Amino acid sequence: MAGSESPLKQIFSVLISITAFTFQGTSALVNPACPTAFWNFGDSLTDTGNIINAFPQCSECRAERRPYGDSFFGRPAKRFSDGRLVPDFFALAFQKPLLQPYIQAGAFDYRFGANFASGGATASNDSTLNPFFLAFQISQFGRLKQTVELEKSQIMCAQFLPFLPFDDSYSKGLYTIEIGGNDIINALTINNLTAAQITTQVIPEAMTNIANGIETLYNNGARQFLVSLLPSGGCSSSAVTLLGSSSPTDALGCVTAVNLLFQAYNAAINATIASARTQYHAASFTIFNYYAANQEILLNPTKYGFNPNLTRTTCCGAPGVGDLNYNPDALCGNQGSTKCSNPEEYVNWDGVHFTEAFYRVISKFVLNGEFTDTRFNYTANCNLSFNQFGPEVTFNDVYGNTCQVTFT
Ligand SMILES: *[C@@H]1O[C@H](CO)[C@@H](O)[C@H](O)[C@H]1NC(C)=O
Ligand SMILES: *[C@@H]1O[C@H](CO)[C@@H](O)[C@H](O)[C@H]1NC(C)=O
Ligand SMILES: *[C@@H]1O[C@H](CO)[C@@H](O)[C@H](O)[C@H]1NC(C)=O
Ligand SMILES: *[C@@H]1O[C@H](CO)[C@@H](O)[C@H](O)[C@H]1NC(C)=O
Ligand SMILES: *[C@@H]1O[C@H](CO)[C@@H](O)[C@H](O)[C@H]1NC(C)=O
Ligand SMILES: *[C@@H]1O[C@H](CO)[C@@H](O)[C@H](O)[C@H]1NC(C)=O
Repeated sequence: MAGSESPLKQIFSVLISITAFTFQGTSALVNPACPTAFWNFGDSLTDTGNIINAFPQCSECRAERRPYGDSFFGRPAKRFSDGRLVPDFFALAFQKPLLQPYIQAGAFDYRFGANFASGGATASNDSTLNPFFLAFQISQFGRLKQTVELEKSQIMCAQFLPFLPFDDSYSKGLYTIEIGGNDIINALTINNLTAAQITTQVIPEAMTNIANGIETLYNNGARQFLVSLLPSGGCSSSAVTLLGSSSPTDALGCVTAVNLLFQAYNAAINATIASARTQYHAASFTIFNYYAANQEILLNPTKYGFNPNLTRTTCCGAPGVGDLNYNPDALCGNQGSTKCSNPEEYVNWDGVHFTEAFYRVISKFVLNGEFTDTRFNYTANCNLSFNQFGPEVTFNDVYGNTCQVTFT
């Protein structure tokens, strides 16, 4: 075909395609900017209180008991870790109050956004463990925004104004989405689905909901998204302990079949975001490759302050099953479990969730633009400081003089 065209016509058509490509490139890729607020959707990796505020004293709410929260907070802080989670490190880096869970009876402060993440949540409409799946979280964001608009329209609501989102909190907010691990965990451990069912049913349903969620947020003014892939779930102490003896493991000791499912989910998120980029030209999308970041920490633990002998071992747990201190009959927070003396050296906190030390490294990666596809460096562009990230800093050091609704 090309041979039948004149050289000039060939060059011309090449130029047109380059121009078209360049034009499409610039219009499709909006750069991130410094956010003024944070709107987070996710599961227990980023839940700063929702599930426990909704279901206090529930049988699985071990995070209400010590030693959860011991690091930084000095007591349980409704978080599934020994201390701070990624949204907490973001708040410290941006020098903002801790991002408040939107379910918080008796108190509210939405000036800098809200956190809708909820422990156990899925992206698919699976309410087995938690009714607050992604579609629900997004609809709650819409309800919050409606209520705020109603309040702002009434002079008699003036007393609430100081605690409501600013008018530009939606358009200049950062919308972070971190969800999906429970889709796979529930499918494997509760719903007894096969890998084929997960890839053909669970993942596509989850992606429909992520795509719908992005559309709803976009229609509500969201313009900056940061979407996390899933970490390497096959490397968790629980996966290795429960499946590692019956299922092949890789060079890092991780359960290959589980990691493959997590990566299948990640490939699907990539495709979902690629599609969103072509649809919403006015928005920026950054993908954080949590999986690669997790692998990097496991491959080079010493570089990040972790003990290479302990990368797969649970800090808070009990012996008796396998050799990683993870025992389903004595989970962290339950009788028979104990906390390690040096959580800073561990990646894994309770068998499923990570330590504050791990989230600290992850937060720095994200804020520095590492393991992200846009490479946008929030630290440099927003003049962020990691001064309050250290393990020696306590909640009282930073927030001692603020209204404290973080605890039960
Ligand atoms: C789970 O599925 C497998 C194969 O599909 C089946 O053999 C097994 O009985 C199921 N287990 C439960 C508890 O339903
Ligand atoms: C999940 O539920 C929401 C409503 O809560 C609905 O809009 C959505 O279509 C459902 N997703 C799927 C994949 O069925
Ligand atoms: C997802 O996209 C990121 C960024 O482009 C890439 O580094 C990563 O390998 C992709 N992951 C999968 C599982 O496709
Ligand atoms: C790791 O274990 C080896 C063998 O027991 C020991 O020699 C080494 O000191 C340990 N490393 C750390 C950082 O504790
Ligand atoms: C991001 O910016 C910070 C502060 O300027 C700098 O220390 C860091 O090296 C940068 N990260 C990358 C990956 O360029
Ligand atoms: C950056 O932040 C530091 C302290 O965190 C402050 O001293 C400095 O003035 C800030 N620079 C800019 C350009 O805002």
